[in-house]
Amino acid sequence: PDSGYLRPEGAPMTVIAHRGASSAAPENTLVAQEVARRAGADFVENDVQPSSDGVPFVLHDTTVDRTTPGTGPIRSLTAAQLKTLDAGSWFAPHFAGAALPTLAEQLADLRTRGGNLLLEIKGAHTRDQVATIVEVIRAERMTGRVFVQSFDVDALRYTRDLAPELPTGLLRGTLDADPVATARELGLTAYNPSGAALATRPGIVADLHAAGIAVMVWTINSPAQWKQLDDLGVDGVITDRPAELAGWNAAG
Ligand code: G3P
Ligand code: CA
Repeated sequence: PDSGYLRPEGAPMTVIAHRGASSAAPENTLVAQEVARRAGADFVENDVQPSSDGVPFVLHDTTVDRTTPGTGPIRSLTAAQLKTLDAGSWFAPHFAGAALPTLAEQLADLRTRGGNLLLEIKGAHTRDQVATIVEVIRAERMTGRVFVQSFDVDALRYTRDLAPELPTGLLRGTLDADPVATARELGLTAYNPSGAALATRPGIVADLHAAGIAVMVWTINSPAQWKQLDDLGVDGVITDRPAELAGWNAAG
């Protein structure tokens, strides 16, 4: 069985821009997404969490403190409050005014300008909160261009149940005893370990591939590690340096 996400023989690894081109632009903003697109990234990776009034926003941290002048948990702020925050200045002054995107805005930008999304459901979500994410993806007509991933098993179960058409990947910082069994039990399309976790048992790539399950590894920024993953047959690499990985692939 092939999920459609296994890397064909001789093809380059999929370039997945971690939080957008986050080494060159403020993470998880539309400008980071534009930089990633120009860099030749195949996918942008993001992190989605709900505002206090239930709107899915794109933000990595549980609070707005690090990447905006605001304070407090994202889940305690309304969409209107989140929309007043500058998410660019912390990175560099000329990004001042970059907004926190909603998931809908991010998907609309990808639909009209091009690109695919590796959407991370960040933190615990209720079934209703996952249903809202699914509704947004469908409303933006982006079902065929979104891959859902999460550390949260329940979020993946809700996604599978509510939207079986969406591919799902499980993020792991430590490997399961039997990753293939876990992937089968959850009906996963991909199993996505950290680079450090994969290094403890690189042979799982072949095992997962034999079961038709893709492997996308995070967050890998060095050519030496790209070479190791390429040799293992890894399907996709999540990186802060999409331009460099695209160039490395092309030189390859
Ligand atoms: O895509 C996987 C990676 O993003 C997980 O770590 O903390 O950057 O969301 P984090
Ligand atoms: Ca992430």
